[in-house]
Amino acid sequence: MEKGNNKRTVLVTGATGGLGTAMCKHLYKDGYRVVGNYVTQSKADKWLETMKAEGFDIKLFHGDVSDFDSTGAMIKKIEQEVGHIDTLVNNAGITRDGRLAKMKKDDWYDVINTNLNSVFNCTRQVLDGMIERNFGRIINISSVNGQRGQFGQTNYSAAKAGMHGFTKSLAMEVAKYGITVNTISPGYIGTDMVMAVPEKVLTQIIAQVPMGRLGGTHEVAHLVSFLASEETSFITGANYSINGGQHVY
Ligand code: CAA
Ligand code: NAP
Repeated sequence: MEKGNNKRTVLVTGATGGLGTAMCKHLYKDGYRVVGNYVTQSKADKWLETMKAEGFDIKLFHGDVSDFDSTGAMIKKIEQEVGHIDTLVNNAGITRDGRLAKMKKDDWYDVINTNLNSVFNCTRQVLDGMIERNFGRIINISSVNGQRGQFGQTNYSAAKAGMHGFTKSLAMEVAKYGITVNTISPGYIGTDMVMAVPEKVLTQIIAQVPMGRLGGTHEVAHLVSFLASEETSFITGANYSINGGQHVY
């Protein structure tokens, strides 16, 4: 796999998932040094094998991003083995869909911990270095359902809306250090997460998308790589919709 000569290092959390994999490949092809985070060992082993066969030289590091200490240990290991992190993509996430009237306590806390508290856990522990070096890119992967709400997703929508609140506030705090903080809000993209939605419900959702289809992982990955670049130095606190026209406002 041909790689450019960009010296910046990008950490993608949830790298072994549908979007994470596409992001890693796209960033690598664009010349970044890419490191990924994973939580499930068996999935990571298979992922590394496939990526190696396809010619991608990308290291994976274990860490549960819903846990502050686990995340801290992972970041320390990356810094020792690879070097400092210039760009953080907060991508790891889960769904536990269901109406609030039926929602179990764990379905609420697991989603908030994995999708929102993870953003604090990761960002807080890479930020000091970015401030010292006067450069950083933080990219938070939110969702159209954080922008507009979705039946059955009080937990997920709250976490995803919270991510953009975090983006806006942190963007103000770190602008003077050359660090940008932005949100990407994808619509429905064809990954395992979306394929878990009941077929009948998914068909109805796709019918509401003016483009008439699910998004491709490469389409989101392209936007991530754009926001990681040096040239986007005046873009901060923004929320990029990428949803085929499903939610326009
Ligand atoms: N609007 C209004 N009413 C709805 C509804 C909707 N969108 N969906 C279901 N209902 C109603 C049903 O008609 C039914 O009503 P009655 O009882 O009056 O007949 C009732 O809700 C069914 O409620 P249940 O709690 O029994 O629901 P269920 O077990 O059938 O499942 C659900 C509900 C889990 C929310 C299911 O509809 C579902 O999975 N929906 C998809 C949610 C979704 O879009 N998730 C996205 C996952 S991918 C992702 O999150 C990525 C991303 O960022 C885009
Ligand atoms: P996916 O294929 O299910 O991937 C999610 C990834 O997150 C997996 O690699 C998963 O690892 C990892 N993860 C889960 N919990 C973790 C934890 N505690 N620590 C570290 N990693 C963890 O889903 P996806 O579609 O690629 O989603 C990626 C991100 O995009 C999520 O934040 C999602 O909410 C967001 N998003 C997706 C869509 C979409 O339509 N697909 C739309 C909008 C936003 P394991 O598999 O090992 O658990």
